Amino acid sequence: MGKLNGKKINTAVFISGRGSNLKSLVKNSKKKNSPVIIRLVISNNLKAKGLIYAKKLKIKTYVTDYKNVNISEKKLLEKLFKYKINLICLAGFMKILSGNFIKKFKKPILNIHPSLLPKYKGLSTHKKVINNKEKYSGSTVHLVSSKLDSGHIILQKKIKVSKFDNEKTLEKKILKIEHILYPKAIKKFLASL
Ligand code: GRF
Repeated sequence: MGKLNGKKINTAVFISGRGSNLKSLVKNSKKKNSPVIIRLVISNNLKAKGLIYAKKLKIKTYVTDYKNVNISEKKLLEKLFKYKINLICLAGFMKILSGNFIKKFKKPILNIHPSLLPKYKGLSTHKKVINNKEKYSGSTVHLVSSKLDSGHIILQKKIKVSKFDNEKTLEKKILKIEHILYPKAIKKFLASL
């Protein structure tokens, strides 16, 4: 991808639901010193709340049902090339991108995961953290590789888990830090290229 040369990077955000990270990414992308511009929002779920937000802001959206992974990924790649997307940010996207997709896209793909990776990969992270009585949890932004939640870590933020926390309160606390962490990690990552 090379250096930024002052040009904003065309970015696609992939979501499956609520889209609070999408909102924070879009908000941050509107800042003058933002290295990215959100050109496209992609979802596997037509009912994802984040799509309503994207449409309101007149950001192009595209939904594919993922009934057939190969066909869906092929269509996704076409869209990404059409919009000259140079960076993908997964934000609560509940599908796993295939190795083939990652290889064909060729450009960086980032993900945000609500745990201190490499701990607690996969689903139900907050539940596992609470059940294991962990003292700390947090969030991680990492590069996507073909192994789930395992790519190179770009940035991590740690928070204390209080003995009064439950899944819901922990989720809320972590979402709050994610909204700051993700834009920061994107900046750090792009500056390093
Ligand atoms: C976030 O906690 C993110 O780390 C995880 O899924 C959640 C998505 O939340 N991958 P939202 O849809 O951005 O509100």
